Amino acid sequence: MKNYCKCQLFSIETKTKIKKNPNQTHFGFETVDENVKPEKVYDVFEKVSESYDKMNDIMSFGIHRIWKNVFIQRLNPSPGIDLLDVAGGSGDIAFRFLNYLKTKPNPNMESSSVTICDINDAMLNVGKARAQKSGYTDENVIKWLQGDAENLPIQTESVSAYTISFGIRNVTHIDKALDEAYRVLKPGGRFMCLEFSRVNNDLLRKIYDSYSFTVIPVMGQIVAGQWKPYQYLVESIRKFPDQETFKNMIEYAGFRAVTFENLTFGTVAIHSGFKL
Ligand SMILES: C[S@@+](CC[C@H](N)C(=O)[O-])C[C@H]1O[C@@H](n2cnc3c(N)ncnc32)[C@H](O)[C@@H]1O
Repeated sequence: MKNYCKCQLFSIETKTKIKKNPNQTHFGFETVDENVKPEKVYDVFEKVSESYDKMNDIMSFGIHRIWKNVFIQRLNPSPGIDLLDVAGGSGDIAFRFLNYLKTKPNPNMESSSVTICDINDAMLNVGKARAQKSGYTDENVIKWLQGDAENLPIQTESVSAYTISFGIRNVTHIDKALDEAYRVLKPGGRFMCLEFSRVNNDLLRKIYDSYSFTVIPVMGQIVAGQWKPYQYLVESIRKFPDQETFKNMIEYAGFRAVTFENLTFGTVAIHSGFKL
């Protein structure tokens, strides 16, 4: 049974409400019918899949690597864990997870597994090619699965950890994705999300906004030949709920001991919760 107070729910609804028509949602700053958003998001990631990793390095000056390393350190996986990485794209989290396990004494790699689930086969194909190059080919250890975060093709209570990195802001119904995360986790399992959030310093936020809106789409055009997907990227970041609101949403989905940690002044935040 979900345990929440009405004032908390009210704040979630007001802060995340972006539409007058219940069948509409946002796609960046555009208002679109809910049923067209998944297609539009699919199109974005299909277009950027080949340049995705390179652009991440360029746009963030490589800092996304540090954020993802910290994310895995916070998860601190032990051998034996089965991780589901949703919206896992080209595998950045999955590879870090496996590399991290290797640093543990007696890692016994066959006892752990990671499933990368993403809606977009172009992104998964980039990940599979990277896995081949890195030697991560054992299908008992690393699995690639096409699926929607809002309707996961995964058995109930079957995984011990669920991660989603820079993925949840792209789904049409964040609440459904959180419900699905809760469903597939075993009791005691951990939910962790890495996502862009609200910069907590006014001056830095202005600089960051100006950089994002003026430089990133231009870089997208120059490096990847794509302006619009990168325009969507910066707009979708602004539409995503702030740290506290997202924390409330995670609690509303049923998770307990929910916390968040800001990285780089809240440019991104790591949210964590447990299915208790
Ligand atoms: C910005 S990328 C993040 C990739 C990777 N997790 C990372 O941190 O680099 C967002 C990913 O979310 C995926 N995605 C978008 N909507 C999704 C959905 N409804 N279900 C599953 N994956 C989705 C996209 O296909 C894309 O691969």
